Amino acid sequence: MADILENKKILLVIGGGIAAYKCLDLIRRLKERGVGIQAILTKGGEQFVTPLAVSSLTENKVYQDLFSLTDEAEMGHIRLSRENDLILVAPATADLMAKMAMGIADNLATATLLAANKQIMIAPTMNSQMWGNPATQANLKTLKERGMIEVPPADGELACGEEGTGRLAEVPDIIAQIEAFFLSSEDLPLSGKHILVTAGPTHENIDPVRYIANHSSGKQGYEIARALYLRGADVTLVSGPTNLKTPDGVRRVNVTSAREMMAESENALPVNAAICVAAVADWHIKNPSDQKLKKNKTGTPALDFSENPDILKTISNQADHRPKLVVGFAAESENVVDYAREKLDRKGCDWIVANDISGDVMGGDHNQVHLITNDGAEDWPHMAKAAVADKLADKITEYFED
Ligand code: C5P
Repeated sequence: MADILENKKILLVIGGGIAAYKCLDLIRRLKERGVGIQAILTKGGEQFVTPLAVSSLTENKVYQDLFSLTDEAEMGHIRLSRENDLILVAPATADLMAKMAMGIADNLATATLLAANKQIMIAPTMNSQMWGNPATQANLKTLKERGMIEVPPADGELACGEEGTGRLAEVPDIIAQIEAFFLSSEDLPLSGKHILVTAGPTHENIDPVRYIANHSSGKQGYEIARALYLRGADVTLVSGPTNLKTPDGVRRVNVTSAREMMAESENALPVNAAICVAAVADWHIKNPSDQKLKKNKTGTPALDFSENPDILKTISNQADHRPKLVVGFAAESENVVDYAREKLDRKGCDWIVANDISGDVMGGDHNQVHLITNDGAEDWPHMAKAAVADKLADKITEYFED
């Protein structure tokens, strides 16, 4: 699938904040994704980054002056907004926001913003007192009410030495918002499809401080959730405990045990597809202790186990809400394809993605899988988990297009 950002055109308005230097990285990352960028550099912005740096990275002329005859002849401020798909103001200073809210058009940036007929996105940054000032907050409210998208500032140490809210959002977070904007305005192949993804390990309590878990990191499931979202799906990610960031746009439901994962997965139904990637514990402790088990008190504790519900099997055999497509995963260290085919029948799902766990799969960034369906088996090369996710998401897209 083509990158959602490829061939998009963005007009970047660089305001006068110390964080303007981050724009240079932002431009590079967007250019890597095939985005065409034109930039307006304000007088303030020019104090922090040079026109030459911006122009070299955008590979375009930088626009600075409202009354420059050549700029107006080559590209008037009206055309600057018309020729782009999105206008991003980063950094958006308190002053720029105030001028935007008031409709002031005293320089090229503010005049272009006032004349814009495209979506405007603002990434504010300033001292935390300026940010918290009722004047700034009122301006922000006005701008949002008028439909502008905010990429909120982050907390942390500010360039002025103070702590608080006011740092420019990180470049990946700004890019995620840009992606979300283009995704929401496009008709994508999985638009209108609701997909459930389970991911991560489960934890089964022994007592209030101890539990049984496994080495699953959740990375593969999270990548799949992201790849499906990028194709337009409405994704519910039921996740066991992980350290991973929720993929942008994905609805995440946190669970701890297999029984909670079962309940939340059933809660998400009906769905068009369920992708069970989680490494669910097969058993839980029958009677976990309310108190911490003491060493030496009763000798070595004997743990009594009960079987956990099988989420994949339960969803595959749903009477009323059986999703059209149910995909399971199978971690195998030998006879990978044969065991997976047997699992497909036993669980009643439609496809099995069988991973060969003889390498660094658990917790690693790569995976080597085989896709087993009723039509046969495909062997996929060893690749990054993100690439496996993309390939699987493309298969799911094809399945729903048929
Ligand atoms: O039986 P096994 O654990 O090998 O099956 C793996 C597949 O079944 C995975 O898709 C996993 O998410 C799913 N599974 C489940 N609930 C369980 C056990 C496994 O959904 N209790």
